[in-house]
Amino acid sequence: MDFRKVRRMQQRIVRSPEETMAFAGKLAGILEPDDVLTLSGDLGAGKTVFTKGLAKGLGIQEMVSSPTFTIIKEYRSGRLPLYHMDVYRISDEEDIGLEDYFDQGGITVIEWAENIPSWLPADYLNVVITRLDEKARKITFTAHGPRSEHLYREIMKDEDTGN
Ligand SMILES: Nc1ncnc2c1ncn2[C@@H]1O[C@H](COP(=O)(O)OP(=O)(O)OP(=O)(O)O)[C@@H](O)[C@H]1O
Ligand SMILES: [Mg+2]
Repeated sequence: MDFRKVRRMQQRIVRSPEETMAFAGKLAGILEPDDVLTLSGDLGAGKTVFTKGLAKGLGIQEMVSSPTFTIIKEYRSGRLPLYHMDVYRISDEEDIGLEDYFDQGGITVIEWAENIPSWLPADYLNVVITRLDEKARKITFTAHGPRSEHLYREIMKDEDTGN
């Protein structure tokens, strides 16, 4: 078995929107400038709820809402800036200037990033949210690059100690 490959994937079951937010909030605590998270999952899976938890964990005071129509929303009242994107309506052929955000010292979160594979940075943590039933979700992390692999290991450490 390719142990290294297996270690790069981490799964966690959450049983309510509040639990999703709390889990994302914990992740927010270990994020550093220029980290990029991609969020995948069906409509209504919980990508925006996850981002709200992340924002709360970063200490962002503003109300975070889905950027489906604006595509990009920026929040600057937290420990780090948050660039929240929803590229549901964008295709890979369009250049919406995403790369300008990746080195601005903030956290980039991209909902529906699978729509724009050509525009993703070299290193990002993919978060897949799968609906199990009305309130239960499976959250799967996959690291793409050394920085996200480090993040991934930090998440796993927390889980191992039961915190
Ligand atoms: N465990 C859970 N985690 C997250 N959301 C949950 C959970 N259980 C139920 N929900 C509900 O699922 C919905 C998730 O909506 P949300 O807007 O976050 O989805 P989304 O993945 O961002 O969808 P879209 O692709 O339309 O942007 C909310 O109504 C939320 O209350
Ligand atoms: Mg959303």
